Amino acid sequence: MPILRQIAQLGQPVLREPARSVADPADPAIQALIDDLLVTAEDANGVGIAAPQVYEPLALFIVASRPNPRYPHAPAMAPTAMINPELVWTSEETETGWEGCLSVPGLRGLVPRHRRIGVSYMSRTGKLCEEELSDFIARVFQHEYDHIHGLVFIDRVASTRDLVSEKEYLRIVS
Ligand code: NI
Repeated sequence: MPILRQIAQLGQPVLREPARSVADPADPAIQALIDDLLVTAEDANGVGIAAPQVYEPLALFIVASRPNPRYPHAPAMAPTAMINPELVWTSEETETGWEGCLSVPGLRGLVPRHRRIGVSYMSRTGKLCEEELSDFIARVFQHEYDHIHGLVFIDRVASTRDLVSEKEYLRIVS
């Protein structure tokens, strides 16, 4: 049975360490971690979660965009585990949008991201996937990709004035 994992909060060193690549996606411990990440993200109304956020410094994350109370306008998609993900190319065009993070509670920020990206990753069944992502899904990927490199969204804001409280953010987007 998957279990809800404790989420590391900003200040925990694991959030600032580069993650190790996953040697074998079929490893039962990796499959169990993926199941735990899926339920943990859903329970916390996350649209993505990276393994370092649950104290596992591995290059693995979930992208699971869907409308929820934290992101009322997020597009729906099937939750996808991405193992050893790579950012292959990025559009010159960037877009600024709101982000939050389960590891940075109570805060939102306006973060510039590439609007379109080419990515590759291994699926949980070990298949190499190459995809083009755009807009909000591309944003989630870039946010989670940062996590496996020891970065969080507040590192990416153009100005600290682009940071607002969660309460004010909900007032702004509603
Ligand atoms: Ni995050």
